[in-house]
Amino acid sequence: MSDAPHPTADAYTLRVFRDPEETARAAAENFARTARLSSTASGRFSVALSGGSTPKRIYELLSAAPLRDEVPWGATHVFFGDERCVPPDHAESNYRMAAETLLARVPVPTENVHRIRGEGDAVANASLYEDELRAFFPGSTWPAFDLVMLGLGEDGHTASLFPNSEVLTERGAWAAAAWVERLAAFRVTLTAESVNHARRVMFVVTGQGKSEVLREVLEGERDPARLPAQLIRPANGALEWLVDEAAAARLRNRPSRV
Ligand code: 6PG
Repeated sequence: MSDAPHPTADAYTLRVFRDPEETARAAAENFARTARLSSTASGRFSVALSGGSTPKRIYELLSAAPLRDEVPWGATHVFFGDERCVPPDHAESNYRMAAETLLARVPVPTENVHRIRGEGDAVANASLYEDELRAFFPGSTWPAFDLVMLGLGEDGHTASLFPNSEVLTERGAWAAAAWVERLAAFRVTLTAESVNHARRVMFVVTGQGKSEVLREVLEGERDPARLPAQLIRPANGALEWLVDEAAAARLRNRPSRV
């Protein structure tokens, strides 16, 4: 593992695994461990799930023994890092993906699942989500998630913080509607500031297709407008990158494989 900070990010932990399956297993174990520790410490575990395809296997592992039985689901509160502006039953919905691979298979109370509405007006939905976050973290300046899970797009985006988008310079909001030019679509996303107040942020990145962007984000010049994942630098929380060999192939500061 590399704890050494480097020019474009503060201290982070990089763990390299043989393949996507090992990486997913390590991420699921990390989730379960954090859930147990958080629940013991505060009586609850708040997590923002990531979307896309990489987390599917993580969620499947969490929905089955042994990990399923290691998570205090009754004390777990599920949020989302971002959502596409589609209905919850749409093939592109991050909520639907999480529901099918995890939420429908574990005893998390329905009221503990805090979906971002994808249907309807994105600005209104971002406001509703922010209201729900503020109700869950009353009196806080920022949401204090126990864990935020993130992926990395090949263009350097994370959550729905896309390159050169207005949401990157959002200040003060916990969640926001983001127009994504490349997709010609709105998204709703946690802001970078929200993520950066989490106790733990875990990126999970696999596959050769991510090797160049991972190198740029971790070892390249700091350019968060072009590489929004570089905005993620938790003020006091832990920052972990769980990657497989293929994604790590171009890294110079390569720790020995876990
Ligand atoms: C989304 C995610 C997004 C994702 C990356 C990586 O809504 O798509 O929040 O940030 O994590 O695009 O996606 P893959 O895991 O599919 O490569």
